[in-house]
Amino acid sequence: MEIKRTILIVDDELGARESLGVILEDEYQVISVASGKEALEVLRKEPVDLVLLDVNMPEMDGIEVLKKVKTLDDEIDVVMVSALNTARKAVDAIKFGAYDYVTKPYEPEEILSTVAQVMERRNLYRKLDYLRKQVEESRGFDHIISQNEKMLEIFQLIKKVALTSTNIMITGESGTGKELIARSIHRTGNRQEGPFVAINCAAIPSELMESEMFGHERGAFTGAHSRTIGKFEYANGGTLFLDEISALRSDLQAKLLRVLQEREIERIGSNKPIKVDIRVISATNTNLENAVSQGKFRQDLYFRLNVVPIYIPPLRERKGDIPILARHFINKFNTAFNKKVPGFTGKALNALAKYYWPGNIRELENLIERLVVLSTGEEQIDLQEMPLEILTGPDSEIQISEVEKLGLVRVRGAIEKRIVTNILEATDWNQSEAAKILKVNRNTLIQKAKQLGILLKK
Ligand SMILES: Nc1ncnc2c1ncn2[C@@H]1O[C@H](COP(=O)(O)OP(=O)(O)OP(=O)(O)O)[C@@H](O)[C@H]1O
Ligand SMILES: [Mg+2]
Repeated sequence: MEIKRTILIVDDELGARESLGVILEDEYQVISVASGKEALEVLRKEPVDLVLLDVNMPEMDGIEVLKKVKTLDDEIDVVMVSALNTARKAVDAIKFGAYDYVTKPYEPEEILSTVAQVMERRNLYRKLDYLRKQVEESRGFDHIISQNEKMLEIFQLIKKVALTSTNIMITGESGTGKELIARSIHRTGNRQEGPFVAINCAAIPSELMESEMFGHERGAFTGAHSRTIGKFEYANGGTLFLDEISALRSDLQAKLLRVLQEREIERIGSNKPIKVDIRVISATNTNLENAVSQGKFRQDLYFRLNVVPIYIPPLRERKGDIPILARHFINKFNTAFNKKVPGFTGKALNALAKYYWPGNIRELENLIERLVVLSTGEEQIDLQEMPLEILTGPDSEIQISEVEKLGLVRVRGAIEKRIVTNILEATDWNQSEAAKILKVNRNTLIQKAKQLGILLKK
């Protein structure tokens, strides 16, 4: 059953209120009051869709009441009801936000049709609102695409913690969006005017790291030709993103801890402390708790950094996001490369959903970039264009008919790649050990890995 819409009748004459009530009460929920003051009291307490408002009333006249209603809630519709001699005023009321007016004496049909129009418009707006909300939700949060429940919880958490300065640690596999989330926290929060400065602790050679973090004075060490400002100083008033924090050397872990405690730094070669106000977001794709229990990462530092933990689930655990992410990246690269790729065929999308995605969203993004660049026409991307890892992945039903078309060389490559990667992972990327198991010598393994596009760690 549909809920009845509510109409508030405001008229100082009892007869006028009653006759409107009789016309409307079959279809609508009707409330009647005799003055503007009472009307406003009702509106403060009850949800009302439409106010039928008499223009000519003794204390507060209709126009006055109209203005007050609109300031109270702009979404409430108002239709003016006026005697002929005040019709001019009723017309003016449109300027102040009334939807329409009717003049007395009126036919019941006239009232009913005006009211019906208002209600229809309200239904339409409500639908639009609902649709708009759905679109927003499907787009995720701040350009982070997701409909996954765990991710939506993360978006809620981001909104909350963004307004504070507590330290945050983001964990998750490679390519799950850790940096994206870190930037979003910065952009959403009250430090957005300040800088966002990133340091990748694994990418900077260890002997340069200290200077990178804290800066140095001229002549502080051989090669220090001029004073250099460190990233901590740059980040003052903003956010410092410490990426791959697990790679931080232990002496620098101690220094970092001190900076977080004292809220000040010293450039190398100077003993003058400089105050810094920074929020630290750190990220890691390894299990830092293990590192702590093995004594490789300081526990006190871990606690300082990990005040609010955010764990981003891998793509394979939120496969529902694959179609919307695929759509997002197709659009992105169509625009970037001026292409018109309409998307994937159902079969191709299915294959994407079955794949294991070790490289997570970054892998999906890179794949779609390649597919869009290589596509020539305006046709949907189908299975033949998909890389073999996806067609032959652990979960995928190998689609022999599709694979046959690709030729032996590519098929062999894909299978070799899978075997070599598996063994390397099983041996923790120990090349000699993996080579022994694969029954080749180490140089052959290195060559093979290169040829197959496997990045050898260590
Ligand atoms: N939910 C998402 N919506 C849209 N794009 C995403 C999403 N998650 C990740 N990406 C994109 O995927 C790529 C990888 O994300 P990001 O660099 O944040 O991952 P990461 O977790 O920091 O990876 P790594 O551990 O390898 O450094 C980026 O281009 C990012 O924009
Ligand atoms: Mg990253």
